[in-house]
Amino acid sequence: VMESSLTARDRVGVQDFVLLENYNSEAAFIENLRRRFGENLIYTYIGSVLVSVNPYKELEIYSKQQMERYRGVSFYEISPHIYAVSDNTYRAMRTERKDQCILISGESGAGKTEASKKILLYYAVTCPTNDHMATLGDRLLQSNPVLEAFGNAKTLRNDNSSRFGKYMDVQFDFRGAPVGGHILNYLLEKSRVVHQNHGERNFHIFYQLLDGGDNDLLTTLDLERKPQNYHYLVKGNCPRLSSVSDKNNWKVVMKALSVIGFTEEEVQKLLNIIASVLHLGNTQFGEGEEGETYITTETQITNLAKLLGVDGAALGEALTHKKLTAKGEEMISPLDFEQAVSARDALAKAVYGRTFTWLVEKINQSLALKDEIYHSGKGCSVIGLLDIYGFEVLQHNSFEQFCINYCNEKLQQLFIELTLRSEQEEYETEGIAWETVQYFDNKIICDLIEEKHKGIISILDEECLRPGETCDVSFLEKLEDTLGGHPHFVTHKLANGKTRRVMSREEFRLLHYAGEVNYNINGFLDKNNDLLNRNLKEVMCQSDNQILSHCFRREEVIDQKRPEMAATQFKNSLTKLMEILMSKEPSYVRCIKPNDAKQPGRFDEVLVRHQVKYLGLMENLRVRRAGFAYRRRFEAFLQRYKPLCPETWPNWHGRLADGVSALVNHLGYKAEEYKLGRSKIFIRFPKTLFTTEDALEAKKPDIVIVIQSGWRGMKARRRAKTRRQAAELIRRFIKGFIYRHEEYCPENEYFLDHVRYSFLKNLRKNLPKSVLDKNWPTPPPSLIEASEHLRRVHMRNMVMKYCRRVQPEWKKQMMQKVVASEIFKDQKDSYPQGVGRLFLDSRLEREQINLKVIQTLANDKVQYGVSVVKHDRRGFKPRSRQLLLTNTFAVLVDRTKLKQRIDYTALRGISVSSLSDGMFVLHLPNEDNKQKGDLVLHCNHVIELVTKLAMMASKVNYVNISPGSIRFAMARGKEGIIDFVRGSELKVTKGKRGHLLVTAPRINST
Ligand SMILES: Nc1ncnc2c1ncn2[C@@H]1O[C@H](COP(=O)(O)OP(=O)(O)OP(=O)(O)O)[C@@H](O)[C@H]1O
Ligand SMILES: [Mg+2]
Repeated sequence: VMESSLTARDRVGVQDFVLLENYNSEAAFIENLRRRFGENLIYTYIGSVLVSVNPYKELEIYSKQQMERYRGVSFYEISPHIYAVSDNTYRAMRTERKDQCILISGESGAGKTEASKKILLYYAVTCPTNDHMATLGDRLLQSNPVLEAFGNAKTLRNDNSSRFGKYMDVQFDFRGAPVGGHILNYLLEKSRVVHQNHGERNFHIFYQLLDGGDNDLLTTLDLERKPQNYHYLVKGNCPRLSSVSDKNNWKVVMKALSVIGFTEEEVQKLLNIIASVLHLGNTQFGEGEEGETYITTETQITNLAKLLGVDGAALGEALTHKKLTAKGEEMISPLDFEQAVSARDALAKAVYGRTFTWLVEKINQSLALKDEIYHSGKGCSVIGLLDIYGFEVLQHNSFEQFCINYCNEKLQQLFIELTLRSEQEEYETEGIAWETVQYFDNKIICDLIEEKHKGIISILDEECLRPGETCDVSFLEKLEDTLGGHPHFVTHKLANGKTRRVMSREEFRLLHYAGEVNYNINGFLDKNNDLLNRNLKEVMCQSDNQILSHCFRREEVIDQKRPEMAATQFKNSLTKLMEILMSKEPSYVRCIKPNDAKQPGRFDEVLVRHQVKYLGLMENLRVRRAGFAYRRRFEAFLQRYKPLCPETWPNWHGRLADGVSALVNHLGYKAEEYKLGRSKIFIRFPKTLFTTEDALEAKKPDIVIVIQSGWRGMKARRRAKTRRQAAELIRRFIKGFIYRHEEYCPENEYFLDHVRYSFLKNLRKNLPKSVLDKNWPTPPPSLIEASEHLRRVHMRNMVMKYCRRVQPEWKKQMMQKVVASEIFKDQKDSYPQGVGRLFLDSRLEREQINLKVIQTLANDKVQYGVSVVKHDRRGFKPRSRQLLLTNTFAVLVDRTKLKQRIDYTALRGISVSSLSDGMFVLHLPNEDNKQKGDLVLHCNHVIELVTKLAMMASKVNYVNISPGSIRFAMARGKEGIIDFVRGSELKVTKGKRGHLLVTAPRINST
């Protein structure tokens, strides 16, 4: 909480510079930054502007939890953070339905790009996603590695320096989900393609390709792995970087390209171009005897022709000759050595620069809003992110620095305008008289640069277009003629003695809002012209590489009108950018780098002071502090400070404004110290606020006591209340118990409800888990019927679930068991044991049945087989047999012989005993006396066998279970009897009167 950290201000400084007492002191400003930096507090506000110091180390403040912390929280309630700015901007867009932009500035290496990535990530993570655009967040994030590979390079000041300016719009739908994006790019530093300063590198993509591309790819591109072999990569003498892995980044970039939607063919075409730039660099020239220039490296031309998809001879010709049109006639003139070299470099730059623009367009297509309903733009809000080069002052400043600083001059102008505008608006809505702010208006410098006809850019263009001999020096002279006497423009000639000593004759000096910069005029004309020979353009137009034929348009060659000069192009794009930004509500992130060594923990005061100055931070602060240091909504102010005044403590019930009024009167604020607006209090000096804060600190022990006693009282009251309620409850319960047998009435309703409720609750926990579990809690009288319903429903439910799970195999088994139970349940002693066992498909293995038997049976397949003992009808002699069941008959087999066939249709019945023996009798027809009689058999699996037989023969109802004895037919009308008794073990013996006596073992359960 910001207010609470007011107390920690001595250790970590203030987290909003507006609270600096001495806001005009640069030293105090820097001291505050330094103190916070020492505590890893890299973010500080100037009002709503975020100042960020590059920590040069990973801080643990960017996690998902941190994002959550900042979500939807009021800006000042929590420590300053890039997420606070992101969130605040997002919410302003949502609630005020106004487009927003976040302008990130700072010098190279200060952390602008990192900041913009953090903002994007915050949105990607925290915003709702639009289902059919779920991948947009991905594509937005993935556009970064691609743009960085092609547009970033290692410089002395930053290992990953953006060499182009970038403005990115993120579009959100009415629900706040990101649905589209658009990127504008500014002024790519093309000169880097052909030249790098010592210790610097070309754009990352070249090294990534050489390091990460696989052998096949390099072979198709005719490339070798070593960057040292390429002239365009050795200028800076720095092929590798310790801080980044080109190989890994290559993979990242290739992945990103596919996420964004580049086809394999497009990637190939793109890489052809990248490779061709390297081959161009290795294209060398020689000088002939008559001064003519020729190409000494023909293989390069062959490679180039292939990669660029152009005619090799035409390319060679165009690299060494120039086509001129003079008086309507075309002339070809040879180039000298130097001209050829610069024509080649110009081609490399043009090819790379235009390809970069194509890349941005392509990314834009991928990010574009696809949905028709958004095309109207209605319901869609935008947050723009500007990551653009900060003010730049180098040892030698050239055309590029001129453009960059001009851009910053424009941004400063915008900042002043918008900040003053919003200050003024706030004063107006709050009904406070506007107090004029003294500030430096840099319009005069902007005009100096951009004014039509008189400005530096106009003069530069004029000089480029002027016929006759022009050179950089004539440009300088022209500047002196036109601008001499301007308060912000000086040259060696115009300067006084003191300045003269520190300026060279080839420089002009501009007094920017941020400070003085000397620009060396060498190269201004060339860079502004940015010329590519016409015949080179012609060759490129004919390329069959689609990217190149898109980049080099035929119209360009035919059209005689000169394209706009570089500076003018830049000016126009800036004007457009300003329009875009003006239409939005801005937030600012100002990045500072703490040292030049890219090291953590080092705070170089001189360096920081320099940036504080060039970023115009003191000016920021002055504008912001012009009126009041501190402003808060009434409720927030009252809430915090109400203990300081008896009238407002503990609660103020009147109008907020009156409460604040009473409070400040009591505190003795003087009239000039504060103003009350409509909804906010404005406090002019931080001192006033700090005094109040200290008073609050002193008051805290008192408040603690008040809160403590209040808390204790409340706890005691709460305890008493609980007791009272408990007693009442017990009383009702007892009464209910007494009346429990009465009809439902007020006396017993609580009790009865409770009984029912607890029955149901208990039931829920103790439901039977299986169909076999017959337990069921006993219901109270009032629920007997319901309980019975529930039990049935539950049972049905379990059964249903069970059936659904049953496999076909198991189902068959179950059906047999059901039949077995119909026949035997509660009838035969061995049933409980027999039914528990698995019924097998057959008790005989295939090989146990003689082959002959199977052949004899032929088409009647054996469905089930089992070993049985047959007892002769007479004498009951036991004989081992097999009983085989087919679909229509059973057959008794003695090894190879079929002894007896029993057609199912002829089966009259089956008898078994009620005991645990395996004896069974098959009753056969006995109408005539030729029949041999019934079959007396014994089987160890009698339950299984009889069940199967009964099922196959459809004789389930023909099974008799006889308790004492079974009568059976013998030959010639005689009758035999089997008697059954219980004994200790199974015995089959001859009994009295010629009966067969079977002793069946007792079974424990019987
Ligand atoms: N918040 C941060 N936390 C950790 N490291 C950071 C942070 N911001 C910047 N850095 C480090 O500083 C380096 C430079 O940052 P960045 O590339 O964002 O600078 P820049 O302002 O975009 O510079 P340029 O103008 O050259 O593009 C990063 O590569 C990273 O190592
Ligand atoms: Mg950058």
